[in-house]
Amino acid sequence: MNQRTFHIRTYGCQMNESDSERIAGTLIDRGYSMVSTPDDAELVVLNTCSIRDGAENKVYSDLGRLRMLEAERGQPMKIAVAGCVAQQEGARILARDRGVNLVFGSRAISQLGDMLPRLEAGERLVEVDIHTRPDAPDSHVRPDPWRAFVTVMEGCDNHCAFCVVPATRGPEVSRAPEGIVDEVEQLAAAGCVEVTLLGQNVTSYGRGLSCGTDFAGLLERIHAVPGIRRIRYTTSHPKDFSERLMDTLARLPKVARHLHLPLQSGSNRVLERMGRGYTVAEYMRRIERIRALIPDIAVTTDMIVGFPGETGADFEQTLDAVRDIGYLNLYGFKYSRRPNTAALALDGHLDDEVRSARLEKLLTLQKAITLARHQSLVGSLREVLVEGVSRRNAERLSGRLEENLLVHFSGDPDWQGTFRTVRITSATSSALLGEDLGEEDPLETAGLADGKTFELTRGAVR
Ligand code: 5AD
Ligand code: SF4
Repeated sequence: MNQRTFHIRTYGCQMNESDSERIAGTLIDRGYSMVSTPDDAELVVLNTCSIRDGAENKVYSDLGRLRMLEAERGQPMKIAVAGCVAQQEGARILARDRGVNLVFGSRAISQLGDMLPRLEAGERLVEVDIHTRPDAPDSHVRPDPWRAFVTVMEGCDNHCAFCVVPATRGPEVSRAPEGIVDEVEQLAAAGCVEVTLLGQNVTSYGRGLSCGTDFAGLLERIHAVPGIRRIRYTTSHPKDFSERLMDTLARLPKVARHLHLPLQSGSNRVLERMGRGYTVAEYMRRIERIRALIPDIAVTTDMIVGFPGETGADFEQTLDAVRDIGYLNLYGFKYSRRPNTAALALDGHLDDEVRSARLEKLLTLQKAITLARHQSLVGSLREVLVEGVSRRNAERLSGRLEENLLVHFSGDPDWQGTFRTVRITSATSSALLGEDLGEEDPLETAGLADGKTFELTRGAVR
C-alpha cells in the first residue's frame, strides 16, 4: 500500500508555525510523509489562527477550495482543522462543513497520535480540551537545521479586552526549564545556531513553576549552551518587563538586541479600557531604561487602532507615542471583534472607514520612521545570519541582522545557516542591501578592506 501523505498549511503567528512542526513530526512518526501541495495529499491539515476576523475567514474560504480540489481529483481527502479556530469553534466546524474529518485545538496536539487510527478508520473527531504539552522534547520537523522555534510556555492569563488568545490557547503554563534546556542542547548538537523562544507572554515565564526559574534565569541557562549564537524571544508584555530581566538582557551577548514590546495604544484611556495594566508613561520609562542599558537595541511594537471608544484625540496620542519612541517597525492592526472577548460589550464600536483611515495614517507615519532607521545603517558592517537564496531574486542571498531586519546580498547559497559580515550599502523601508565581506572577524575585515575603522555595532563584533 502507498505511504500515507499529508500537507499542512499554517496561518498566523510563530507559535502556530512551531505547532505545525509538532503536528508534522507526529504524523511522520506515524508513517505519513509530508507533501508540499494539497493536490495529492491524503490528509490536509489547516493550522488556523483566529486573532482577527480576516485570518478566520481565510480558513473557511480555503476549506471551500479544498472541497473543490477533492471533487476535481476524484480521490478522497481527509481534512483536519487545527489551531485557534479549531479551539474556538470545536464541533461547530464539523456541523458547518461536512468535508472536515478532524478538529483539534492548539492545546490538543499531544493527543493527535492517538486520534489518527480512528480518523483513518473513518470517524469524525473533535478534541478541544486543554492538554499540557509533555515536558520531554517531542517530535518536531523543523525546516532548517540551523534555527529553531522553542516553545517555553503556552496560553495566557491576561485578559486584554480585545484578545481571543486566553480563550483559544487556555491558561498560562510554563514548561520546566530542564526540558527546554535539553531541547536546546539537542538542537545545538545538531547544528542549530539560533533559537527563538516562544510564548504568548514570555516575560511572565516561570509563574507557577516550583523551581523558581524566571525568564531571566531561563535566558541565562540557554545562553550557556555551547553552539547557540543568537537567542530571540517573543512576545514580551510591558507590565512584566522587569529591571532584573533588562539587566540580564544587557549582560548576555547572545541575546539579540531586539525587543518586541507591544504598546497597543498611546492613550491611557484606551489602555485602561483594553485592560493592559500599564500607562504610556510607565511604558516609556521601560523603553528609556532598556535603551540606557543597551543603547542600540531595536524596539518594535504592536498597535491596535479603532478600539471601541477610541477618539480622534486618543488616536493622535498613538501617533505621538510612535514619533516619540522611534520604533524600528510596528505591526498595526484595525480592531477586530472577537468572540468571547470583553471588548464586545464596550460602547463606541467604530466604523470600518474610521478604522481603515487611522490604520493607513499610522502605517504611513511608521514607514517614514522605518526608512530613516534603515538608512542610518547604510555604511555599517553587520553580522548577518544567512537564511538562503532570496525569494524574490535567485541571484541574491537573504539573511537577518539581530534586529530581525532582512538584508539581501550576493553570495554562495552554501552559506545558508552561517554568519557573514556584510557592509550595508542601501536601504528601503522593507529591507537592506549589502555586500559580503567574508566570515572573518569584522574588525579585521574593516581594517583590511578599507584601512580605516568603521563604526561597528555590537552585532558585528561578536
Ligand atoms: N483586533 C485587532 N488586533 C488584535 N490583536 C490581538 N487581538 C486583536 C483584535 N481583536 C493584535 C494585538 C496583538 C497582536 C498579536 O495582534 O496587537 O499584540
Ligand atoms: Fe492576548 Fe493580552 Fe495575552 Fe497578548 S497578553 S495574548 S494580547 S490577552
